[in-house]
This record gives sequence, C-alpha cells and structure tokens, in this order.
Amino acid sequence: MTIPVAELNRAAELREQINLHNYRYYVLDDPQVPDSEYDRLMRELQTLESKYPTLITPESPTQRVGAQPLEGFGEVHHRVPMLSLDNAFSDQEMIEFDRRVRDRLGTEGLVHYMAEPKLDGLAISLRYEKGVLVQAATRGDGSQGEDVTQNVRTIASVPLLLMGNDWPDLLEVRGEIYMPLAGFNQLNMLAQANGDKGFANPRNAAAGSLRQLDSRITAQRPLAMYCYGFGEIAGGPLAETQSDSIQRLANWGLRISPEMRVVEGVEGCLDYYRQIGERRAALDYDIDGVVFKVDSLKQQQSLGFVSRAPRWAIAQKFPAQEEMTRLLAIDIQVGRTGALTPVARLEPVSVAGVTVTNATLHNEDEIKRKDIRVGDTVIIRRAGDVIPQVVRSIPTQRPLDAEPFQMPDHCPECDSDVIRDESEAVARCSGGLFCPAQRREAIKHFAARRAMDIEGLGDKLVDQLVTQDLIRTPADLYQLELTVLEKLERMGMKSAENLLKALEKSKQTTFGRFLFALGIREVGETTANSLANYYGSLDAIMQADAEALQQVPDVGPIVAEHVVTFFRQPHNLEVIQALLDSGISWAPIDVPDAASQTLSGKTFVITGTLSVPREEIKQRLVMRGAKVTGSVSKKTDYLVAGEEAGSKRTKAEGLGITILDETQLDALLDE
Ligand code: IVH
Repeated sequence: MTIPVAELNRAAELREQINLHNYRYYVLDDPQVPDSEYDRLMRELQTLESKYPTLITPESPTQRVGAQPLEGFGEVHHRVPMLSLDNAFSDQEMIEFDRRVRDRLGTEGLVHYMAEPKLDGLAISLRYEKGVLVQAATRGDGSQGEDVTQNVRTIASVPLLLMGNDWPDLLEVRGEIYMPLAGFNQLNMLAQANGDKGFANPRNAAAGSLRQLDSRITAQRPLAMYCYGFGEIAGGPLAETQSDSIQRLANWGLRISPEMRVVEGVEGCLDYYRQIGERRAALDYDIDGVVFKVDSLKQQQSLGFVSRAPRWAIAQKFPAQEEMTRLLAIDIQVGRTGALTPVARLEPVSVAGVTVTNATLHNEDEIKRKDIRVGDTVIIRRAGDVIPQVVRSIPTQRPLDAEPFQMPDHCPECDSDVIRDESEAVARCSGGLFCPAQRREAIKHFAARRAMDIEGLGDKLVDQLVTQDLIRTPADLYQLELTVLEKLERMGMKSAENLLKALEKSKQTTFGRFLFALGIREVGETTANSLANYYGSLDAIMQADAEALQQVPDVGPIVAEHVVTFFRQPHNLEVIQALLDSGISWAPIDVPDAASQTLSGKTFVITGTLSVPREEIKQRLVMRGAKVTGSVSKKTDYLVAGEEAGSKRTKAEGLGITILDETQLDALLDE
C-alpha cells in the first residue's frame, strides 16, 4: 500500500515532536508540554502506524513497549573491555591515589578530575551505528556480556536515535542503568499488595528488571540511565577531556548526571565528596560513593590500566552501613585448597535493605583478636556488594556461659587432621582430594564463568553430583550421561540435555582459562594468562622448574612453588590427561623462540604520546624478551619517548639513558 505524502510527512513530524518531548521529559527532566498533549501526539502516531504498518520502524517512539519474549540472551563480546574501579575508603586513600597519579604523570601541579556520583545500578554498553541504537549489553565479566537490546529499548531515557548529526559512525556509550527510588517504592508497594516479596533494594530491582526475557515486563519497570563513559568509537576520542566528551554525549540527547563537575586537585575531590554526601539522602536514586576520573584523556592514556581497573579513576565509597544482631553459631567452611573459614550464622538482620544471615569471620586469629564468641551480640557491616563482616562484639551483652572460639582439629567434612603452617593465618584440612568439600569446591571453580564457563552447572548441582559420588574430579564431568543426569533433583530432560551441551561447548576453551580452571594455588586469572602466553603449552609449563617459572611476569617464588608442586602430583596429571582425552582443546599460542629474543635482558620505559597504544608497544617489546617498567631509574636501558614526554625524559637525559623515538624503536624491533 502506498502511503499518501501528507500522512508520511505527518508521521515524520509526529516522531520528531514526540522524540523531542521525550527528551525534555526523560533526559532533561524539564517537560515542555502537559502529559495530555504528549499522549495525544502518541495516539495520533499509533493510529497512523496501524493504518500503514510499513511506517513502523524499530526507532519509532511507539516501539518502546517491549517485544516477543526471548529464549535466552545472546552473548556480546566487548572489544573495549568494561572495567571496574578501584575503591578508596578514606580521605587518606584519596590523597594516596592523587599522589600516585601525579607521580606517574610526573607533575606537581593540580590534576583536574571529573567528579560524579557512583550510581548503585548496573553497567551497560549502548552501541549506536550511524546514530541508531543497535545493541545494548550488560557488563558480564567485563569482556563478555549479555545482549539486552530489547529490554534497554523500553527505557525512555535511552534515545533510540541520536540528535544532531556530528556523531561518529560508531559510538559505544557506557553508563549505569538504575531504578529511581520513587519508582522502586511504588513497585514494591504494588508487589506487597499482590502478596509478593518485592525487591530487597533498588539495585536488585534494576538488575531483575533488566534481565527479563520478556521485554514487555521490563517496559513496565521504572528504569533510567545515566551515561558516564565510552567504549569503541570510530575515528578515536570525541574530545580532549572526559568532561568535554561527556558534554558531547549530552548534545546528542544522551542523559548525563547533572551532578558531574570538574574539580581541581585532591582538595577539590574531597570537597565534592562531602557535598554529595550531605545531599545523598535528598537524591532520587541510590549512590554508594563518588567516582573521580582524571579529566585529560591524554593523561588517562598515559596512566593506563592495572588488570581490571584504570589507574586514572577511583571510587571513593561512603562508609559502610552497620547493624547489631546476635551470633548464633560459628560454622566452618572448607574451601578448594582446604582452607578452613569460620562463618558467622546470625539472627537475620536487615543492613541497608538486605537481609544478612551469614558473615565472614576470616580466620582463627581474627576471632581471637576480636574475642568473638557464640551467643555474643555483634556489629555487622555491609559495604556495597562485598560479603558482610563481623566488625566486633559487645562484651557487656555477653551471656555468662559464652566460650572462646576454638578451631576444630579435624576437618568437619572428612575428619582429616587440620594443620596450620606457622607462617600462615589459615588452617587447612589435610585431606586433599579425599575431602569431599575440597573436591566440590575444586569442581565449582573449574566450572566457573571465568574458568571453563560451563553454563548451568551451578553450585547446588555440583554439591549433588559430588555427594552422590557421581563425580570425583573435574574430568568426571565429561563422562556424565543423560540417563544419570535427568534423574537428579530439580533436573529434567531438557536441563540435562542443556547441561550436556554446555559441557560439550566448554571443551573449546583457551589455554589461559584451562590453566586457571585447574585451581593451582595462588594462580588467578591474570597469572594463568601470563603462564599460558609465556609457555604456550602444558608440556612446557610442566617441565619448567621454580626458577624458570619466575621469569614469567607476575610469578614470584611462592606461586612458582605452587605450580611445581601441583604438576608433581600424579593425581593431578591423571586428571589433566583425562580432561585432554575427553577432547578439551584450545587455539595454539604463538610463543617467541629464543632467536627472536633480541632484547632479552633490556629494560624499557615508555612515555609521552605515541601513534599506537602503549600496550601494543609494550607487547611488541615483551615478545622480544624485553622488560617494560613504569619509572626511569639507573636500571633503565631505553626510554621510548613520544610527543610531550615530560619529567621521565628529563630524568632519562640526566642519567644518560638512550632515548628512542618511534622510528628508532621500530628499527630496533626489526633488528
Ligand atoms: S566508570 C573505566 N562511573 O561502578 C571506568 N562507573 O566499580 C569504569 N558505576 O561497573 C566505570 N557509577 O557499574 C563509572 N559514574 C560512574 C559510575 C560507575 C556507577 C559502576 C559501574 C562499574 C562499577 C565499577
């Protein structure tokens, strides 16, 4: 059906008007017209669209009501990882942060910081192509998230189309989705009226709403978004500073917090923190602190990252919330490596909106030091999403018969002897893999998202499988059969099939993940990846002795010893062989051979602005056997200096260190 030009034009006009009113209402919080007028325009557009269905485009403002339910969320790979933030819990820690920033930048001047509230919601990435919202994804583990596009499209403060026309062809915006308090209270009142439990806090409500497979439900939930950063951008940065870049987002109709400010130096930060702290209760949303980001993007780039967080940003948290309750019992949990952790069982108490029944007591020494006894009235502290802690007990309220805590001398799970190394605070079960608790935890670790990522193999299921002796090692997982699985509690045919599929899928992994999954003591994700990249193969790692292992970035004497010990256990070798036999494999890793180690033993420092990212240069140098460090000293052999190299260059000149520009560096690398 052809659409008459007049109606075609009218539809376009209505969309533009509605989008503008939407923007005024949801983004600027400053409506231009009464709701009735907005509703009238919307109805007119809906009528036109139902008359001419070809008028309906995904970007039409009528299309925010949600779509058909999904089977599950797709996966999204974040090409620019979504990082987390380091925390500061005091003014002193902020001062230290600012000191580190200035040391690294080599400046004594005041650093400009962008200051903003730390919203208590969940991080989201929005991808705009040619100004159109094409994808929204959760953070997930930082490199892989879930595709929640359908749900995010229902959030009124997220523009489906960007305003203006000077946006880059590809613009990935990062921000926080949260639930405003008013909406949260209303939602919970409604839930109560219906006899439902409701959500514990606005953060859970936001997360629960965003993770609905049926976006029509999300559409009913009062979610909002503030944008605070960027991912991938075609053609590079939007401006020279964080604040100017954020301003550009605002010009394109994206919602930014009106509380954002540029402040000077750490004094400016601390002032801002106090001011927001005073107004915290009056805000319409939960915040758990304040975020400071170095404003200059050039400075951000030169500061770089440490594993999962940027060096150029920090979150200063508000003090944690505390409550009082009674300690009912101290249970002992046995971890993957046999470590015994005392856990406090508490009379349920609500701390900042979350009911707390368990809290960690860390270790024996800590309990003794704080003199915490079963029966005591204790103070519980909860900060953000960390595990609640027992801060102290109130001795005046202690029952007369309360006895000091005693660590058991036998493992509560397998009765093996408990041993405690003099040098360690931790007591351990000596049962090794004879201990069902250690087996259970080792398998949970193996299956975890960051390890083999076996979807659907949750803790409860592992508990069942181990308790019923259906599996004893991670390798046994791959021998599980449908007929056995489907008979398990809370399993059906469908979930059993899905689990087998997930197990099959997990076999294709990376070497780093596999190493991490093995659960070698002290070998976390980063160390596992370093080992994988350095050695490239299992055989090579197994043959390395403790001394050789310490050549690997990130590996010290203790880690090296744990690696050697691990691969010396016949049992571990058997499990590894069984895993490989079941078909686990990974893409080969290119390891530089000895002949290519032309820069072995040389120490480099990189500074200034270069034409390629610093990480890339670093990698090229490391591939040639060089060491790259952060500061210039007598031990430095070369300084790679880009434009505007500051104090490091001066220092290097003073020490007579060879300074290379990019061309000279390339020549050296090509040698
Ligand atoms: S910036 C590279 N800014 O905090 C910096 N994060 O602890 C990455 N968050 O996952 C984050 N408000 O969900 C940034 N104004 C803000 C924030 C904020 C809340 C959350 C975000 C992130 C987490 C990191």
